[in-house]
Amino acid sequence: MCPNGAGKVHVKRGYMELELFKKIIDEIHPHTSTVVLALSGESLLHPDLFDMIHYTEEHQVKVLLNTNATLIDREKAIRLLESGISYISFAFDGYTKSMYEKARKGADFEETLENILVFLRLKKKKKLKKPYAVLSILNLNIEDSQNKKKEEFLKKFDTLIDDIHLREVNSWGNVFKETLDFTFTKFTGKGTPCGRLWNTIGIAWDGEVVPCTYNMNHDYPLGNIQDMPMEKIWNSPRLVQLRQAMIDGNYLECSPLCENCTIVGTPKILGVPTGLRITLSDSLENFFGYGFQKKAIKLASRLRKDKFAFRQVK
Ligand SMILES: C[S@@+](CC[C@H](N)C(=O)[O-])C[C@H]1O[C@@H](n2cnc3c(N)ncnc32)[C@H](O)[C@@H]1O
Ligand code: SF4
Repeated sequence: MCPNGAGKVHVKRGYMELELFKKIIDEIHPHTSTVVLALSGESLLHPDLFDMIHYTEEHQVKVLLNTNATLIDREKAIRLLESGISYISFAFDGYTKSMYEKARKGADFEETLENILVFLRLKKKKKLKKPYAVLSILNLNIEDSQNKKKEEFLKKFDTLIDDIHLREVNSWGNVFKETLDFTFTKFTGKGTPCGRLWNTIGIAWDGEVVPCTYNMNHDYPLGNIQDMPMEKIWNSPRLVQLRQAMIDGNYLECSPLCENCTIVGTPKILGVPTGLRITLSDSLENFFGYGFQKKAIKLASRLRKDKFAFRQVK
């Protein structure tokens, strides 16, 4: 279900040089709240990951590591807990062994689950608040996930996890729109402008800048950060054109990848489009301090009345 695993990524792959990473942080840190380490890869494979985390957090920019947890052994768990990282999100797509192993080919259900639990138990033992830990589970609709099994599985995380995201699979823009491997909701409405274009941006390993994480094939390239400053790319005619197309509702003419994207397909809440809400909560956390997000999410869950994919955590 991921373009990576499905062999749908055709651009050259590689690891970002530490020097380039540092240069980017030097440039963007005064204007950046959070750096997410996962554009289209698994950052725990990167040999300089811990240096990157330290360097970013030292510059008062929070780091979110989005990982499938297959490589988190005890030693890495301890290093991560000591790294000062602010957030970690474990992508664990399935409640049962067969569901998980169908989605995550080559990964072992028990082993990866244990990796996550070891990490969380260590965090609890050390009485650490950080990193804010999220379990992210994608419903691939490939197996009947009975409520009993689901609850049994989620119970393992009681008192250990900060938040659980139960998410619906999507067609990754237009990448899987013809797939028969899983079913997803087709988005038909005009949608709301994608808020992400006003507050986030993606930088690939080689410095190529793209509008968002869905651009795994650099579908809408904006320029290379090695050749021009981020400020110039952020305000480039191409990005301004895509933002305007979002407002006008004709974004597919610019970026066919946006078709079916859940970001434009998710309704506004209290007038705020998705993609902007995350920045709102991020900014409020910077203002009110660590831990605010947990309270905000609890409130949001109540307001959503279970309509959206979050579950109250114990
Ligand atoms: C692209 S992955 C990168 C992080 C990490 N390397 C991994 O394996 O999960 C980031 C997130 O995208 C989610 N994802 C992958 N394919 C998806 C799809 N078709 N629809 C929705 N989410 C998807 C994954 O479950 C994961 O939470
Ligand atoms: S709508 Fe989706 S694919 Fe398009 S820019 Fe926004 S997040 Fe990216």
